[in-house]
Amino acid sequence: MKSRTNSTWGGRFSQAPDQLLRDFTESVSCDSRIAVQDILCSLAHAAMLHKQGILTRKEYTSIRKHLQNIHKEIVSGKLVWKTELEDVHMNIESELTRRTAAGAKLHTGRSRNDQVATDLKLWILDTSASLRGHIRLMQTALLLWAQRQGHFIMPGYTHLQRAQPILLAHHLLAYIEMLQRDIGRFLDCEKRTRSCPLGSGALAGSTLPLDRNHTAKELGFIDSNGRPLLTANSLDAVSDRDHAVEFLSACALCGIHISRLCEDLVLWSTSEFCFIRIGDAFTTGSSLMPQKKNPDIAELARGKTGRLIGNLVNLLVTLKALPLSYNRDLQEGKPPVFDSAETLSRTLQVLAAMIHNTNAIQSNCEAAASDPLLLATDVADELVRHGVPFRDAHHIVGAAVAYSEKNNCSLFNIPEQEAKKISPLLPKALSAANKPPKQQLKKRNMPGAPNPELVKKEILRWQKILASSSKESSSTLRASHTTRSN
Ligand code: ARG
Repeated sequence: MKSRTNSTWGGRFSQAPDQLLRDFTESVSCDSRIAVQDILCSLAHAAMLHKQGILTRKEYTSIRKHLQNIHKEIVSGKLVWKTELEDVHMNIESELTRRTAAGAKLHTGRSRNDQVATDLKLWILDTSASLRGHIRLMQTALLLWAQRQGHFIMPGYTHLQRAQPILLAHHLLAYIEMLQRDIGRFLDCEKRTRSCPLGSGALAGSTLPLDRNHTAKELGFIDSNGRPLLTANSLDAVSDRDHAVEFLSACALCGIHISRLCEDLVLWSTSEFCFIRIGDAFTTGSSLMPQKKNPDIAELARGKTGRLIGNLVNLLVTLKALPLSYNRDLQEGKPPVFDSAETLSRTLQVLAAMIHNTNAIQSNCEAAASDPLLLATDVADELVRHGVPFRDAHHIVGAAVAYSEKNNCSLFNIPEQEAKKISPLLPKALSAANKPPKQQLKKRNMPGAPNPELVKKEILRWQKILASSSKESSSTLRASHTTRSN
């Protein structure tokens, strides 16, 4: 029996939905992105309904065959999405039912509420893993740069004022560390996303004998021992979007790290710093000023972080004060998730390519690091070695710096007599610290410091981590190809 109004829920309505309502409530223009996950969900649900004796073998086989065909048509872009069918779920179900009468039984014991929750979780699990791959690409680009030119000495900054000499590799490795924490955050998000809501129904499960363990296993919601992972409360299951918040938060923080890196790169590419040159193919010119070469990729990547943060706040505000359980507001939770994933993935890929095409200018980095004042702390440390309390040492070197500024001479060129007047130990301390910056760096021996030997070891450590993770991901890729072709 078909309703004249709406084939899905029109039974109790006497008027067809108004066009304004249809345009306002449709979501297929956006949620067709979870179509593949929706098909997977439906395949698992149908298999379970058959196992439970709710679908006959014939009905199940027909549903499976037609869902597989629809899947192919979605992937090849052949299937036409209809906004009048509201969302991706109703589009697929109505297409299935058009092809086989058994399609009308697929929604047994299921609601779009548990369906969309499951689809989105599957999508987040997939996308999070692929973003981790893109973060790896960025780490690799930074590491290759560190291997190429990491031995260049440059100033390290605090308050954007030259502070102490470091190695370029040390600076680049700092970003590799931040990105590693981002990978950890995505993994963490995946861990909590991995519990299957399917079978929670609209909000209170079903009176039919569904086997939730079976669908969870089919969809890969399992622990490391292959045991199914189920959501424990049906109200929570259909209204929970924590996984989307965690995903957006991981995207936003990764974006912030990228933005900080880009800020450094923009500064370094200015004539004022002139520490790096970005390859022509990765910079833009000005429509007016012929001399300009602008670091647009880095600027846009910095700018796009605003979207990533905005998307997180968008979802948080949508969720705030939503009563249990499902509310239509939740439909608004998807566009920010899709936008952040796409923004971050494109940003990581283009930036990695730009970094492969970026080089530091050794002479400029080293000239900036050769300022003797960058070794002022090292001089104070030398005084400490002679038993001077650090606070006093700080004052003594401060006075030496003031003398050198006043008399326009370098810290290491203060006449011995004058130095002695400041402190009898100062000439010794000055001569002990008056070494090329690289030699001074060798004195910094604790873990985490920019000692050239330690930095080399860090580069090797990262080389191993990145090599083993690329082996891992290519074997996962091989495994997933084998599974799919089976
Ligand atoms: N398009 C909806 C969404 O994305 C699907 C769930 C609709 N559920 C409902 N009870 N109207 O949230």
